[in-house]
Amino acid sequence: MKIIQFSDLHITPPDGLLFGSDPADRLLGCVRHINRHHADADLCVLTGDLTHAGHPLAYERLRECLQDLIPPVRLLMGNHDSRHAFWNVFPDARTELPGFVQHAETLGDWRAIYLDTLQDGYTNGYLCEARLGWLRREMERHAGPVLLFSHHPLPALQYPSMDWLRLSNAEQLLPLLKAHPAPVHLFSGHVHRCAAGTWHGIPFVTVSGTNHQHELDLERPGAATSAFEPASYAVILPNEDGLTVHFQPFGYEELRFPYTGDVGALKCI
Ligand SMILES: [Fe+2]
Repeated sequence: MKIIQFSDLHITPPDGLLFGSDPADRLLGCVRHINRHHADADLCVLTGDLTHAGHPLAYERLRECLQDLIPPVRLLMGNHDSRHAFWNVFPDARTELPGFVQHAETLGDWRAIYLDTLQDGYTNGYLCEARLGWLRREMERHAGPVLLFSHHPLPALQYPSMDWLRLSNAEQLLPLLKAHPAPVHLFSGHVHRCAAGTWHGIPFVTVSGTNHQHELDLERPGAATSAFEPASYAVILPNEDGLTVHFQPFGYEELRFPYTGDVGALKCI
């Protein structure tokens, strides 16, 4: 199985630039890269901030950009999104909880769960009692391993400019995730950086944005500084042994060099 995760597209209406760049152009670079290298992926999960300001025309533009993407997509809400505008353009988007973009599906032996962590008007994420209750029932129904996707990370990343804007009631989910009889893996966006680690023993991954990144400043609190560092998507490979995540940059000059050393001199016991 192969799942692609990319995030924080921040699409603007036509002719709208962000930091002097068109986020749609960068998204199209991501789409082309995935189609060229991972057209066999089972699906692509877009972990929120699909648009920069929730504008209806930005969602129209997003739909146009994604129409050539070969793998099917799952779309999550981020703090920059508007559910109302989203549903007007994507009326068939799945949900199992009225009023939210939250659902789950079985992928082989795994259960993929897509959370809606948007709290209207706030930058941090929050799961209300309705969404928490749905998650609780969903986790209880399926005893197998879980891929849990959300825009806002549950853990703090020891990254002060974004940690205060994570899922603010993440600790409420912790007993539920810890009690699950099979591994649970967390995948998020929001921080505009690739990171990986464990949170109370639960593995997590975050990915960069397709448009802009946040500089890695481990000291400064407050708002993060945006920068055009290279963008990446995650290639998630679950199998019967566990799971591997590769981070794949795109949008660079694709210069590849064959290894020219003496392969015969390499030794392996
Ligand atoms: Fe974002």
